[in-house]
Amino acid sequence: TDVSMTDLVSLCRRRGFVFQSSEIYNGMNGFWDYGPLGVEVHRNIKNRWWDKMVREREDIVGLDCSIIMAPKTWEASGHVGGFSDPMIDCKESKMRYRADQLYFARVELESGELLGYISMLDGDNNEAHAKKLVKTLMKKADVKGDTKPLELKDATQAAPEEIPLIPSPATGIPGSLTPPREFNLMFETSVGALSDAASKAYLRPETAQGIFVNFKNVAQTSRVKVPFGIAQIGKAFRNEINPRNFIFRSREFEQMEIEYFIPPDEDAWPEYYKQWIGESWDWLKSIGLREDLMSYDVHQKCDLAHYARACTDIIFKFPFGESELMGIAARGDFDLSQHEKTSGKSMEYFDSDPNAADKRRYVPHVIEPSLGVDRLFLAVMVSAYVEEKVDGEKRTYLKFHPSLAPYKAAVLPLVKNKPELVSKARGIFEKLKRRYSVFWDASGSIGRRYRRADEVGVPFAITVDFDSLQDDSVTVRDRDSCEQTRMKISDLYPFLTQQIDP
Ligand code: GAP
Repeated sequence: TDVSMTDLVSLCRRRGFVFQSSEIYNGMNGFWDYGPLGVEVHRNIKNRWWDKMVREREDIVGLDCSIIMAPKTWEASGHVGGFSDPMIDCKESKMRYRADQLYFARVELESGELLGYISMLDGDNNEAHAKKLVKTLMKKADVKGDTKPLELKDATQAAPEEIPLIPSPATGIPGSLTPPREFNLMFETSVGALSDAASKAYLRPETAQGIFVNFKNVAQTSRVKVPFGIAQIGKAFRNEINPRNFIFRSREFEQMEIEYFIPPDEDAWPEYYKQWIGESWDWLKSIGLREDLMSYDVHQKCDLAHYARACTDIIFKFPFGESELMGIAARGDFDLSQHEKTSGKSMEYFDSDPNAADKRRYVPHVIEPSLGVDRLFLAVMVSAYVEEKVDGEKRTYLKFHPSLAPYKAAVLPLVKNKPELVSKARGIFEKLKRRYSVFWDASGSIGRRYRRADEVGVPFAITVDFDSLQDDSVTVRDRDSCEQTRMKISDLYPFLTQQIDP
């Protein structure tokens, strides 16, 4: 990628894309706020997804469920029992680690004598760092010479007797770590005036279950027929042990999920599954994600979640490394069957058309494309970031696809002191902003105004000059090529529409 994480975080802060939540109170780890520009891009991502996945398709309908659902939902889905990560605490510093992100190694001298253990966190997990730690250990023990090659493992692979020997990454003191224990990631709350076991409820950790629970409601009230999908965009909450990498992994985030219901025949799902992998990839590409940073990760049978038959992740190369952007899973009938068992209500589908080709009554299977809005926002920012040299001068700009750009155009009157010209420009601005978010900028040289627009990723700058008063035309400058075209004012709407949604 062309941008480091530090630069990206500071750019997002400086230009009003993303702020740390509760910043004046020193922030809240794992929570983020979207500023004036960020909220536009964030919304554009969701609107674009909804347009393509719901509005323009006849086989998918939308849904918006409550965040707090009957707690039984999460028993049925397996989240109460199994939605957890292994966690280790440091008893001294009270730091909390995900056991699979805490690495350790046994340090032995060539003679076989045990010198001690070293530990480090995922982000520091490299040879140079390990060598430094070993050096410190040797200095302390006052020994010289070589050690045996290190074998780094994560703490879930530690033998119980090794835990007291591993130093805490925070304090360096051996004996301060607790053994790994499972930590449920669901946020708990209580509903109603009493706070007891019966009032316990959860903030949803995924939007998907709201869809399954409403399967019958949707099937009975809309005219959908298998195969069909239900889509939902909404907040999800996970009490992540180590929220990291900016908005990549946070504790409150948004998901865009589809459950695509298909016939239960064993030979049916691979086709739909393949189709959804392809469509997901194409959609990501269509909103300007850099394809050179995208790849697939097909999960091996052994690391599939208990409910899944197959799962493919679309991976994105973030500045901190390659990581999952979205997942496409074939979930069989696991969820609907679980809800059927737990609620005692039928989840069967039946085509009531007397001429239906398939007269069976069945619990459908499902393909689930699931994508995080905030993670996608980060991938969009990385893809958009461009730094280039123009005539020896550095130009940094955000090359958003026009559909995602926070402002679609900037309207710039060439001069401030000619009322007719300003009023003409103002007229264009007023008209365009009825449909598109546009940006008014009348101060500073034109060059400076172009740069300002580039910096926040405005794809088109519309300049109203003296000639405009005569010929009803304006100059449209393209952000990426810097090329300028003369265009009739009446052509601006169709031009923008074409650029935003070709
Ligand atoms: N219903 C399936 C499901 O929730 P998941 O892989 O746990 O599957 C789906 O989550 C997507 O949600 C991920 O691919 C990612 O884009 C996003 N996501 C998950 N946890 C997240 C977190 N803590 N912060 C931001 N996005 C997250």
